[in-house]
Amino acid sequence: MNHYTDMAREMRATVGQRHRAEHSIRVARCAETIAMHHGIDAARARTAGLLHDLARLWPAQRLLEEAERRGYPIDDFERRHPIVLHAPLSASLARERFGVEDAEIAEAIAAHTLGAAEMSPLARALFLADALEPERNYPERAELWNLALQDLDAAMCATLESTIAYARNRGYAIAPRTKAALDTFSRLKGKGSTVSTH
Ligand SMILES: [Fe+2]
Ligand SMILES: [Fe+2]
Repeated sequence: MNHYTDMAREMRATVGQRHRAEHSIRVARCAETIAMHHGIDAARARTAGLLHDLARLWPAQRLLEEAERRGYPIDDFERRHPIVLHAPLSASLARERFGVEDAEIAEAIAAHTLGAAEMSPLARALFLADALEPERNYPERAELWNLALQDLDAAMCATLESTIAYARNRGYAIAPRTKAALDTFSRLKGKGSTVSTH
């Protein structure tokens, strides 16, 4: 399945909720825009955006069962917060139901919620698109979006800081992977972009 329109239609059916499908379309557009500003393959970014939340509406029990069934190694954080499993499971569904065999798209989708210590330029574009799409409603969104078009690593650092501050203020747990991502991008920030063209 290659054609974007067909893929979008199938995504709507798989996601099963208009609100979530519209979010996915916006994330696809934002990922494409960020990609174009940084010499990243825009079509792959768009596909990753379109398919990143396929399993987002599955209930916790199903997320745990489907992850176990696929032999996914569920860690302590995921066991306590099964919702985050929608990221690796959406990556699985992209391959199983949409025939997307691109490992980098799968990695990007799998890292879109928590981030990771190592993220490809494509994964950074998707993470930022998901966090900064126009319907996200927090005061620094527009500023972070502009930064994402200028400097991927600085935008990752600032967006992760913002996400972590938001979670801390509300007493939410912060995943070790998200802290590891912040460590990485704090170090990379200001050292110049390491983005390569694919
Ligand atoms: Fe998500
Ligand atoms: Fe999302």
